[in-house]
Amino acid sequence: MLLRSEQGLLLLLLGPLGPLSQGALAGPWQAKDIVELDFSTERPLHLVSPAFLSFTIDANLATDPRFLTFLGSPKLRTLARGLSPAYLRFGGTKTDFLIFDPKKEPTFEERSYWQSQVNQDICKSGLLLSDVEKRLQLEWPFQEQLLLREQYQKKFKSSTYSRSSVDMLYSFANCSGLNLIFGLNALLRTADLQWNSSNAQLLLDYCSSKNYNISWELGNEPNSFWKKSGIYVDGLQLGEDFIELHKLLRNSTFKYAKLYGPDVGQPRGNTVKMLRSFLKVGGEVIDSVTWHHYYLNGRIATEEDFLNPDVLDTFILSVQKIFQDYWLSLLFKKLVGTSVFMASVKGPDRSKVRVYLHCTNANHPRYKEGDLTLYALNLYNVTKRLQLPYNLFNKQVDKYLVKPSGPDGLLSKTVELNGQTLKMVDAQTLPALTEKPLRPGSSLGLPPFSYGFFVIRNAKVAACI
Ligand SMILES: *[C@@H]1O[C@H](CO)[C@@H](O)[C@H](O)[C@H]1NC(C)=O
Ligand SMILES: *[C@@H]1O[C@H](CO)[C@@H](O)[C@H](O)[C@H]1NC(C)=O
Ligand SMILES: *[C@@H]1O[C@H](CO)[C@@H](O)[C@H](O)[C@H]1NC(C)=O
Ligand SMILES: *[C@@H]1O[C@H](CO)[C@@H](O)[C@H](O)[C@H]1NC(C)=O
Ligand SMILES: *[C@@H]1O[C@H](CO)[C@@H](O)[C@H](O)[C@H]1NC(C)=O
Repeated sequence: MLLRSEQGLLLLLLGPLGPLSQGALAGPWQAKDIVELDFSTERPLHLVSPAFLSFTIDANLATDPRFLTFLGSPKLRTLARGLSPAYLRFGGTKTDFLIFDPKKEPTFEERSYWQSQVNQDICKSGLLLSDVEKRLQLEWPFQEQLLLREQYQKKFKSSTYSRSSVDMLYSFANCSGLNLIFGLNALLRTADLQWNSSNAQLLLDYCSSKNYNISWELGNEPNSFWKKSGIYVDGLQLGEDFIELHKLLRNSTFKYAKLYGPDVGQPRGNTVKMLRSFLKVGGEVIDSVTWHHYYLNGRIATEEDFLNPDVLDTFILSVQKIFQDYWLSLLFKKLVGTSVFMASVKGPDRSKVRVYLHCTNANHPRYKEGDLTLYALNLYNVTKRLQLPYNLFNKQVDKYLVKPSGPDGLLSKTVELNGQTLKMVDAQTLPALTEKPLRPGSSLGLPPFSYGFFVIRNAKVAACI
C-alpha cells in the first residue's frame, strides 16, 4: 500500500489489467484473431537502464513520521528487494511541505524500532515489532483520510521530520538494494522568493555525517506551486535555485551525487514553458530531466493532477491495481533485459495489441544469452493469438501470463501467473515465478485485456550475446 507509483515507471509500462471475461479463453479461434508479428533483431533500437521500472514512496508517508516505521516491515523489504536494481524516489506533493529538524526526537514507534536493532545486522533483522506494526496498521486508514482531505482541499500543512526518520528511509532503501533519490523542499523561500537553502544544508550535513549515498531532487511539480501554496516560482528562478543546490552539493561529500529535476507535471501548456526556461538556466547542473507522466490517471487525476478524493473508491482501485502491478513489475525485472528491439504487429491490430521485444535478462538461471523476451498487452475483448516470425516459429517458448484471479476481475486483490495465485511464501520469500512451456510452433494466446511475457528460448540472437 505504501509504494505509490504516481510518477513511477511502474505504471508507465505496466498499465492496468482490465476485467477479464471468463469464457473467452475457450477455442476454437478465428483467423481474424491471429496476429502476425514482425521482429527486427539485428541490432537493438535502444538500451534501457537496469534500473528501468523504479518506484516512489510518497513523501506524505512522513506527514506523521510514526508511519515511516512501516519501512521496517520485513515483508515490504522483501517485496522491494525483488525489484532491485531500482531507484527509490522519496517525493510527491508533500516534498515541499517537509522540514528537517535535527533536534526533533524520534517518535515512540521509531525508538522501539531502533531499540530492537541493537547489536544486530540492521539489514538481516530489519524487524518491525509486530505489535507496533499492528497498531500502526489500525491507525493508517485515519491517516489516509487525513492525507486525502489535504489533497482535496489543496491545503498542505508543513510538518517536520527527524534524523531518525531519515535513517528509517535510508536503511529501507539500502537494505532493499535500492538507490535513494530524495526530494528537497523547494518552497522554503526568502522574502525575495529565492530558495532558502538553510534547511537543505542541515539535511546534507546530517547525511554526510552518516556517509549516506543519496541522489537529489528539488521540489515536486513546481508548475502547480501557486495552487498548492500561493507562491509563484518561474522556471528561471527555479533554474537559479538548482544552481544554488548544485553549489551546496559540490561543497560537501555529495560532490559527485546526481541531481535530477525539475519534476514538472504533465508537459503541456505553461508547464512546457516553465520546463524550457528552467532548462535555459539550470540545464547545466542536472544529470537528468524529470517530468511526471500519468499514464492511466486520466480518470483519477483532476486537471491539476491531483487525485480526486471525492471518489475514495477510485483511489482504492488504483492502489489495488498497483499492487497487481507489483507482480508484473517483478516479472519484468526477472525476465526482461536492457536491449530493446523493434517489434510490431502486422495488419489492423497494431494499436490494440501492443508488443515489446527485448533480450532476455541473462541473470535468469533458466535462460541464456541470445534468448528473447516478448511482452504483449491485448486491449481487445477477445483472445488474440500471436504468431512469431517465420525464423522463430519452431522455437521453444515459455509463457508467463498474468491476470487477476477469481471472479472479481480488476477488483481482485490477487493475481495469478499461469493460473496459480501469486502470494508471498513468508515475509522473507517471494513465490517462484513458474513458466509454462509451450509446444514449439504453437501460437501465443493472449486473453482479453491481459498481459503476457513470452521467453523465446535458443533464439540465438547475436545482438543479445
Ligand atoms: C548499502 O550500504 C552499504 C554499506 O554502507 C554499501 O556498501 C552498499 O553499497 C549500500 N547499498 C546501496 C544500494 O546503496
Ligand atoms: C532561511 O531560513 C532560516 C530558517 O528558517 C532563517 O533562519 C533564515 O533567516 C532564512 N534566510 C533568509 C535569507 O531568509
Ligand atoms: C552511489 O549511488 C549511485 C547511484 O545512485 C551509484 O551509482 C554509486 O556507485 C554509489 N556510490 C557508492 C560509493 O556506493
Ligand atoms: C562549504 O562548506 C563548509 C563546511 O560545511 C562551510 O563552512 C563553507 O562556508 C562552505 N562554502 C561555501 C562556498 O558554501
Ligand atoms: C467486444 O467489443 C465489441 C465492441 O468493441 C462489442 O460489440 C462486443 O459485444 C464485445 N464482445 C464481448 C465478448 O464483450
